[in-house]
Amino acid sequence: MQIHHTIASMRAARARAGRVALVPTMGNLHDGHITLMRQAAEHADSVAASIFVNRIQFGPSEDFDRYPRTLAADCEKLAAAGVAHVFAPDEAEMYPQPQRYFVEPAPVHASTLDGEIRPGHFRGVATVVLKLLNIVQPDAALFGKKDYQQLMVLTNMVRELALPVDVIPGETVRAEDGLALSSRNGYLSTAERAEAPRLYRELSALRDELLKPGDHDLLRLETEACGRLPAHGWVPDYITVRRRVDLQPPTQWDEPLVALAAARLGNTRLIDNLEI
Ligand code: PAF
Repeated sequence: MQIHHTIASMRAARARAGRVALVPTMGNLHDGHITLMRQAAEHADSVAASIFVNRIQFGPSEDFDRYPRTLAADCEKLAAAGVAHVFAPDEAEMYPQPQRYFVEPAPVHASTLDGEIRPGHFRGVATVVLKLLNIVQPDAALFGKKDYQQLMVLTNMVRELALPVDVIPGETVRAEDGLALSSRNGYLSTAERAEAPRLYRELSALRDELLKPGDHDLLRLETEACGRLPAHGWVPDYITVRRRVDLQPPTQWDEPLVALAAARLGNTRLIDNLEI
């Protein structure tokens, strides 16, 4: 496995790599990432992973500074998963002068849900992902469904800007108790980790309710699900059902839907979702 710290080195290797699938990450890799790497191998001759903690997608009071940087351990896992290339630039290589050009996602996609709570987040994500796609020039790029809104924004960016890459979604990987794997789970105390699967249980209950035949009072179900969390130490941002295509409120029941949740447990903000 080759590790590239410069754009020039990554590009030179890419030119010799045949069909490439890229898995962009911020490192601190877990089994969810490794599952994406193995899935990527089904779509390409070689798999490339990027590791870059992208300052411009973090808000001023978010966890950029304490986000774990674990490059050596990450590279061991990537090598074991058969990844051929790791692109791991430092900040000066990735943003050599202040980045003054940005990708502005459609407000209808990026100002709802996490975009409303984390202003500028999806602009930062879209900008770095466009830049990574330009550097690596992969044939396919994989993004997990765990970050459902991110996947939706990036799918639309690629389509609307006609980028020559296939976006491939990866299924969320869960611990045995249902908690979606996430780099941020490492912030949880033992007691919080035991409590954390409640978010998934609430989403599952909401989905089960909506799959029952008949009419549903969606607002009541969402409000009740949110309302059950604070007694267990959570500060919910939202539990809501949206249509998958653009994460807007549903207008009819027979369109593909997804239930999404975001809530803080102690100092950790967790998100999860379940397609219905
Ligand atoms: O999902 C992530 O880890 C990041 O948002 C991404 C896509 C690597 C962009 O920094």
